[in-house]
Amino acid sequence: MQNVFQGRSLLAEKDFTKEELMYFIDFAAHLKDMKKRGIPHRYLAGKNIALLFEKSSTRTRAAFTVAAVDLGAHPEYLGKDDIQLGKKESVEDTAKVLGRMFDGIEFRGFKQENVELLAEHSGVPVWNGLTDKWHPTQMLADYLTVKEHLGTLEGVTLAYAGDGRNNVANSLLVTGAILGVNVHIVSPKSLFPEEELVKMAQSFAETSGSSILITDDVDEGVKGADVLYTDVWVSMGEEDKFAERIALLKDYQVNMDMIQKTGKEEVIFLHCLPAFHDTETAYGKEMEEKHGLKEMEVTDEVFRSKHARHFDQAENRMHTIKAVMAATLGNLFIPHV
Ligand code: CP
Ligand code: NVA
Repeated sequence: MQNVFQGRSLLAEKDFTKEELMYFIDFAAHLKDMKKRGIPHRYLAGKNIALLFEKSSTRTRAAFTVAAVDLGAHPEYLGKDDIQLGKKESVEDTAKVLGRMFDGIEFRGFKQENVELLAEHSGVPVWNGLTDKWHPTQMLADYLTVKEHLGTLEGVTLAYAGDGRNNVANSLLVTGAILGVNVHIVSPKSLFPEEELVKMAQSFAETSGSSILITDDVDEGVKGADVLYTDVWVSMGEEDKFAERIALLKDYQVNMDMIQKTGKEEVIFLHCLPAFHDTETAYGKEMEEKHGLKEMEVTDEVFRSKHARHFDQAENRMHTIKAVMAATLGNLFIPHV
């Protein structure tokens, strides 16, 4: 009997049930424990995994690489300047070629349509490592981190402050709604998530019993939050928008004032990373020179505070990605979810 995950792709969270997403999260916790205890879990021995990256990455690339090696598979990095994808060869043709050589494909890029085309034409599981629309593997790590620190997901309130219509905000909203987490998107009106997406989240929330709030009012949006989350104000591919976003989002910065506004002493702070919290990067220096800002979406004080859990979250990328690859490619015995 094949398990319910075998051969499936992870393109968007909406394609999975609450029970299936929870299985990934709990399986990741189990794999994390096995790794810490040195117990081998080479469920993908002899398999080959292609890692396609159109955009740069630290965590996602490192997580897929280490997870593949821990599972006994061989990961092969194929960057945008290494292969023909999109320039000399269509996504469809690339998918057909890679599917004949590799057992699974990770894709990070711009268009959601491209990760879907890869899945349609490769014949092997395809895992979305971030597109402009969704960041599903990030979600599994994020909600695992929340569960580790708060003990549960049901009834937890997560407030996301910042660019409310980027991939991470979209994914947090929909995934949270599926999982029974109350999600508040706190952003200026012009950066609210698309109407269609809010409707989708609302319909999932009705089933899971959670609630969704989309607001431009910071006080209302962060009040009662157990988790405060933010992401960069300018995502990859939008680098010409810094001035516009700073003007729009300066009042949505996660700082100690916002932490206090949650009214929760034990609130945890999450960020998918990388973060602009100081001037120790080329972009950080440029922001200081051009806009007089030393920190953007989160202050250095919050980033280094007792509330911060983003490095646990970053580590969890690896354990959760490992769970997804093993469940969808490992022929594991999973009698029910
Ligand atoms: N959070 C995340 O996806 O990080 P990378 O861009 O470094 O992969
Ligand atoms: N929204 C960010 C997430 C990075 C992990 C981006 O797309 O650049």
